[in-house]
Amino acid sequence: MRVKIILVLFLLGSNLCKAQYNNMWIPDTLSGTNFNLTIKDTFAQMINTGNQTITGGINGQFWGPTLFINKGDVVHMNVTNKLNDSTTLHWHGMHLPAVMDGGPHQVIPPNTVWQPYWTVTNNAATYWYHPHLHEMTEEQITKGIGGLIIVRDAVESALALPRTYSVDDIPLVLTDRDFNTSNQISMVPYGDSMLTNMTLRAQYNVPAQVLRFRILNGAIERSYNIGFSDGRSFSIITSDGGLLDAPVSVTKYILHAGERIEILVNCTGQNGTTVDLKAFNSLLGGFVAGGESFPNGPFANYLGHIDFNILHLNIGAQTANPITTFPTTLTTNTVLNAANANITRKLTISDSAGVPGILGPNAFIINHKLFDINYNEYQVPLGNTEIWEITSSSVFGHPFHIHDVEFNIISVNGVAPVAAQAGWKDVVFIPGKTGNTNTVVKFIAKFEDYADALHPFMYHCHISLHEDEGMMGQFVVANPSAVNDINQVDIPIFIYPNPAKDKLFIEFKDPNQSAYYVTILDAMGRTKLMLPKPELGNGIDISHLSKGVYHVSIIENKSKKSITTTFTVN
Ligand code: C2O
Ligand code: CU
Ligand code: CU
Repeated sequence: MRVKIILVLFLLGSNLCKAQYNNMWIPDTLSGTNFNLTIKDTFAQMINTGNQTITGGINGQFWGPTLFINKGDVVHMNVTNKLNDSTTLHWHGMHLPAVMDGGPHQVIPPNTVWQPYWTVTNNAATYWYHPHLHEMTEEQITKGIGGLIIVRDAVESALALPRTYSVDDIPLVLTDRDFNTSNQISMVPYGDSMLTNMTLRAQYNVPAQVLRFRILNGAIERSYNIGFSDGRSFSIITSDGGLLDAPVSVTKYILHAGERIEILVNCTGQNGTTVDLKAFNSLLGGFVAGGESFPNGPFANYLGHIDFNILHLNIGAQTANPITTFPTTLTTNTVLNAANANITRKLTISDSAGVPGILGPNAFIINHKLFDINYNEYQVPLGNTEIWEITSSSVFGHPFHIHDVEFNIISVNGVAPVAAQAGWKDVVFIPGKTGNTNTVVKFIAKFEDYADALHPFMYHCHISLHEDEGMMGQFVVANPSAVNDINQVDIPIFIYPNPAKDKLFIEFKDPNQSAYYVTILDAMGRTKLMLPKPELGNGIDISHLSKGVYHVSIIENKSKKSITTTFTVN
């Protein structure tokens, strides 16, 4: 690694200055309502010379396509796992049924197709998707698997904002990686090299007008203190889950793992100049990820507590019809009212040291226990408005994320959130305690629409290392008024044609019954197709199944009882 740094310094010192940059890669786009995503092991030439790097990617050689979806649409995902390992794909920030969520419970075995679908209810903003297999999340994200989701809605579309993808509306996925001497990625939480859209030393040509950057902190651990090399101000227009009321002008902003912001920066009149987007991480405190400088040990890296480039911008000619000013207002957010909360749930974050029977000193835990995939910490009644009050005795800061909902931050140590965080969030940074005083963070969320006693939602630290080590918990949203027909024993079905080809039809003889989950396995018992809450009317597409005998397991919706039968494909 040191050799590479010396090489970079040499290039900087020589006249090859232009050559030090690589043109930034932009993820492809997919739009519509049906999305085919194939997760696979692959290769990419990530370093200019030498070996290709073994990566994981969705449809391409790393990362994945940016999905454009519209609020109000029903979107269907065809997720094919072509990895040699099981995985999951989680739609981070999306409000959807737990069985579609892609958390650690929705495991997709190798060579299996998983078909979740949902109605998009999220506000226009930038979301993302990534693997979430317990104890494998760090590894699979480190390999490069993930992607952005851009939600459009009527409110955002009515604003005069840059909206031409890759021209004046530019996605930026921030992460860092450690490459070994044979150009392979090491599984470490902090990398030595900044990667912007999977590009080392990235540069990009932009027009001299208002630019919109959609920035995801997709790092395993590091926070980035974002700003420009000339100290210019920029305006934040979204938090994780939607537009802010109005653009918030700043010169620096700290983005923690899992968080997104969209920013506007005005380059009007700057044709022919350059500016760098940077991480001013020398300004981060020692207990914010990336603010520490570890000379050696498992966390040693070259980017700790220093400033470094994220993206070199070459500003060129304006496009036709450029946006040249910022809107003054964006939307009107109605934040949840604490007076309407049904309950305050009190959670703790602590170091595992001193907790009997648990781990070494480096792990962090929620509610004094490690994650247990079979244990639901909370039953949230459907429709509840809840305050979650998190008290942290950890000296280290943790980005806390919850599935299912977007929330409003009420306070951090008694102080109301800054304007850039006063809208909808799904990650909140819980700073380390100060001296002996624990940190207290409160947020409020409403748990609407989807109740499911079987499939839980997760909450966890979004530092993947901490999450994999057990800094996670789960809750179910339960519908108190739903009656489960527990006496139901019979689930009579018709399944036809048999033998089947291309399409398989499943029909319940009892019209009150419907499918909660259908799984098709081959004769060896390997899962081939996973269909959460399938819409059975049009038949199940089985055209990708080869000839043979298959088992189909059907879980009925009300009773949650299952039956298994067989059919033949020919
Ligand atoms: Cu982006 Cu549960 O995670
Ligand atoms: Cu999530
Ligand atoms: Cu953490």
